[in-house]
Amino acid sequence: MRDDKIAPSKKAANAAKLSEEVQKVEKAGADWIHLDIMDGHFVPNLSYSAVTVKALRPYSNLVFDVHLMITDPEKYIDMFVSAGADIITIHYEAVKDIKKLREIAHILHCKGVKAGISVKPKTNIRVIEDVLDVYDLVLIMTVEPGFGGQSYMEDMAPKITWLAMTVDAKQRNVDIEVDGGIGENTIKHAAESGANIFVAGSSVFGADNYDYVISNLKKIAKDNHKTF
Ligand code: DX5
Ligand code: ZN
Repeated sequence: MRDDKIAPSKKAANAAKLSEEVQKVEKAGADWIHLDIMDGHFVPNLSYSAVTVKALRPYSNLVFDVHLMITDPEKYIDMFVSAGADIITIHYEAVKDIKKLREIAHILHCKGVKAGISVKPKTNIRVIEDVLDVYDLVLIMTVEPGFGGQSYMEDMAPKITWLAMTVDAKQRNVDIEVDGGIGENTIKHAAESGANIFVAGSSVFGADNYDYVISNLKKIAKDNHKTF
């Protein structure tokens, strides 16, 4: 069974107090911290760079889950590995070429980090079938990437379920992550669909009590976790 994990997205944290915010969610029981990197080209927004990721590293023992929403991700892998990433997720749409996608996974593994691949809402999940044997994590976007605070797209469920069934049938230990609009009202749907890693931006950082919201999200995920 895939383990359930809650990964607050730093994108929604108070930018003036990032290290404190990361420490607060760690104390509150978060499993990972999700770091959204945007280049203003692959997505119509900018966030921060590897410099910020590196600056945060000494403040936390959480798994640093780096989501690269950038063009030419292979050019920046070294930067994020040196900055302390534990998992680096690139976008299928930024690469597309299967051979190159397989090479990127290989490079990531050689550098000692886990390899993730993400698909945008309009991308058919089956495009990644031929690389599923080399990636450790698949991130299914449940909003259009670029901005926090959007509504969870329930119609991503068939993609999540197809993936869960496919990796289980292949007996591969691939984490299934969902990102966008996850909160106390939507995590049940994502867990029932087959996801096990839940990125939560606004729902965690917008709450008054991080401990309460994180433990509640964990409980709902656990109660509704589905294997196929
Ligand atoms: C969207 C980002 C998400 C986002 C999540 O492009 O990848 O990680 O910040 O934020 P919420 O949970 O607010 O949708
Ligand atoms: Zn993300």
